[in-house]
Amino acid sequence: MVTGKPFLTVEQIQARVRELAEKISADYEGSEILVVGILKGAVIFFSDLTRHIRTPINMDFLIASSYIKDHTSGKVKIHADLREDINGKHVILVEDIVDSGLTLKYLYEMLLERNPASLKICALLDKKSRRKVDLQIDYRGFEIPDEFVVGYGLDYEDKFRNLPYLAIFKKVSG
Ligand code: IMP
Ligand code: MG
Repeated sequence: MVTGKPFLTVEQIQARVRELAEKISADYEGSEILVVGILKGAVIFFSDLTRHIRTPINMDFLIASSYIKDHTSGKVKIHADLREDINGKHVILVEDIVDSGLTLKYLYEMLLERNPASLKICALLDKKSRRKVDLQIDYRGFEIPDEFVVGYGLDYEDKFRNLPYLAIFKKVSG
């Protein structure tokens, strides 16, 4: 079940997403960015974030998965790779949530090998206490406790992505 009370409300999320977009716009003023959304989880965050960025951008997507039900499998599977050549480009990777950090670390290193001019990470949520690998999150929405959350793009078994806010997911046994 999903607990009734939003963990983060629509208003809280929208305000923070705008702040992140403002920061990105200021940092990249005058240069073009390739904003890469990691699907499926980042789909909603990506579309809200990008429409508030004021510097010219290109968009591209990676479809990747590492989670089975509610735990990481440790292995990252690329279902669809980028269409753009990122060589020499300023790239920002946009992810929904960083938990162990294994997924983003893998994707970050994979993209770094393609010689972008710069590569930064933007994640809406950060479960920092769960981190297993060292990872720098350049733009972070919220640090959250170790709870499984759904909504705003995040899923449990591919459900609840369309909730407009974030809620804590709890399994009801029996
Ligand atoms: P990591 O590799 O352990 O950092 O896991 C990151 C990925 O796991 C994210 O891209 C999400 O797809 C998924 N994930 C981690 N925590 C949650 C959660 O609380 N709710 C939904 N998905 C999560
Ligand atoms: Mg994800």
